[in-house]
Amino acid sequence: MKNQAVLITGAAKRLGMALTRKSLAMGFSVLAHYRSSKEELEQWLEAHPDERSKVHFMQAELTTETGALMARIDKLPVKLVGLVNNASVYARGSIDEAERFNALIDTNAFVPLLLAREFRKRARAGWIINITDAHIDAINHEYQSYRIAKKLLGEFTMQLASLYAPDLRVNAVAPGAMLPAPGQSPEVFDRLSTRIPLGRTGSFEDLWRAYEYLVKSDYVTGQVLYVDGGWHLRV
Ligand SMILES: NC(=O)c1ccc[n+]([C@@H]2O[C@H](COP(=O)([O-])OP(=O)(O)OC[C@H]3O[C@@H](n4cnc5c(N)ncnc54)[C@H](OP(=O)(O)O)[C@@H]3O)[C@@H](O)[C@H]2O)c1
Repeated sequence: MKNQAVLITGAAKRLGMALTRKSLAMGFSVLAHYRSSKEELEQWLEAHPDERSKVHFMQAELTTETGALMARIDKLPVKLVGLVNNASVYARGSIDEAERFNALIDTNAFVPLLLAREFRKRARAGWIINITDAHIDAINHEYQSYRIAKKLLGEFTMQLASLYAPDLRVNAVAPGAMLPAPGQSPEVFDRLSTRIPLGRTGSFEDLWRAYEYLVKSDYVTGQVLYVDGGWHLRV
């Protein structure tokens, strides 16, 4: 029997890599998509050589190469059962900046939709988990386009859950403050705890529990699960 495999975008670093590790621990093979950063996962595999045969590195620029990526996946000796749309760009930009707006909508919402369609063509049964963001409800001009793109991904989650039922389940995890943003100091990140109702930033364990729940709960679809210590309640 072919190994059951999960395609995870942006799988080789930070939260994507945490989801890779959890998927491996749950017994899946991982099609570990990356664009340019794969060192973190390479290093982890050096320390965990037993897992190496279950990881297939898949390089692609997702805005232009999703077709080529899926064509390569078709040749692998695995059975695709899951898709995790994790890759994303967290960048400033208001909706007044047309080029930036289009780019953020493309990477953070349209690419996941495109991958969901491609996944649907290949998987007779399975699940999709989109990674959105818990902190997107307030109007914030600085990260306006990012937030709108993630809201759109949340909407796609519910629409696709309806469209692809009963064969596929489609859910989302909306993380809160899990890791400092690039360039954010640990001190500034830690101070976020004072604004989070449950009094702390999130851990990989928090993310892993939510992920496992959505993977295993075969009567749950169309949900956006906030894993944020209640941060979205105080936007
Ligand atoms: N970090 C947090 O605390 C937090 C909070 C809320 C939500 N989230 C969400 O959780 C997810 C992971 O967060 P993170 O902080 O770990 O993300 P990250 O460090 O920003 O990593 C994003 C990944 O996306 C990939 N990527 C971006 N654009 C791409 C493109 N055009 N083609 C291919 N790959 C592309 C990057 O690849 P390269 O590095 O190779 O370019 C990278 O692997 C994201 O969806 C994010 O919005 C994170």
